[in-house]
Amino acid sequence: MPCMKCLNTRFTDLLGIDHPIMQEGLGPYKTVQLAAAVSNAGALGTVSIPGISEPPAAGAVKLRGYIEQACALTDRPFAVNVPVGTDKHGNVPAFSAAYVGAVVEAVRDAEIAKRLRVITTSAGAPAAARQMIAGSGLVHVHKVGGTRQAVRAAADGVDMIIASGYEAGGHTHARPVHTFVLGPSVTEAVACPVILAGGIRDGRGLAAALALGADAVALGTRFVASYDNPDWHAAYAERIMAASEGDDIVFQALYGPSRALPSGALAELADIEAGGSMDEEQLTAFKDKRLIAAQRDGDMDGGILPAGQISGAINDLVHVAEFVPGMVAEALAVLDRLGTLQKTV
Ligand SMILES: Cc1cc2nc3c(=O)[nH]c(=O)nc-3n(C[C@H](O)[C@H](O)[C@H](O)COP(=O)(O)O)c2cc1C
Repeated sequence: MPCMKCLNTRFTDLLGIDHPIMQEGLGPYKTVQLAAAVSNAGALGTVSIPGISEPPAAGAVKLRGYIEQACALTDRPFAVNVPVGTDKHGNVPAFSAAYVGAVVEAVRDAEIAKRLRVITTSAGAPAAARQMIAGSGLVHVHKVGGTRQAVRAAADGVDMIIASGYEAGGHTHARPVHTFVLGPSVTEAVACPVILAGGIRDGRGLAAALALGADAVALGTRFVASYDNPDWHAAYAERIMAASEGDDIVFQALYGPSRALPSGALAELADIEAGGSMDEEQLTAFKDKRLIAAQRDGDMDGGILPAGQISGAINDLVHVAEFVPGMVAEALAVLDRLGTLQKTV
């Protein structure tokens, strides 16, 4: 990295990386190349799970393949995200334990363990996964959408918390608490480092998150619209760039509410759910297929397109290698400028 002024926080210290910025899990979409680009830029990239409906053992093998691909593309620390939420019957899908198991197994390989340093769990409670992860050497980060969940996750022993506001893309929360409310509440309530997510797209968001007490920021939607995301069909990023403020809607996904851009598939899903013509397994397979159709095939009408409210403010594609340090430089400039607002009366 060329010599630059950086931001040092408990997040950068714990992971030994340059920047307090993370690209979060974007499953069930492939994010291997994006994760490597983000990690190579000095932030933390995340490899996402490959699917929610294939047999768990086959999914675990696929995830191991993704991890090995990421290791070939970066020497820097990266993360894997595994959602561990419950379905509407209160059951944790079998793929969660299989994916967590694949990650824990992968870091038994010393070469992988040098790079795969973090597991993020999300969409539910971390306790069961915690038992599998404790002692693996992995830094365990858990994502929450509320302060009580943050306190519980910290008590369960996770190392860091992602506090994700309601405006976030993808899985969001039954009780809508926004990033600006969540940041100060969660950072007051837990002692461990907190990563703030939801609606962040640039250095101003990073400076704001630090002001709210966070140690880092996590971005999802902003990183989708990137030149370094070749695993995704170009139409997905174009759709995000074409979105206007307020276009996004919330639909019922596997774990409850999820934020997406409107498409024919969501209207179809609403009809199917109202008609009760599919059982839980068929519904999950439908959602998985339509999610993949958007990302892999660029089917913007028949596909499901998770994206955050910030879509309405994203109008360009970024090069990750420039965007990440640029975001830090912008945050530093904001913090300097705010210092000049002081006056004595
Ligand atoms: C396309 C897409 C897929 C997502 N998939 C997952 C996922 O598999 N697991 C997860 O924990 N969060 C998932 N999320 C949420 C992101 O990890 C992150 O919390 C969110 O995008 C942050 O808000 P932002 O989009 O405003 O940056 C997804 C988000 C998007 C946009």
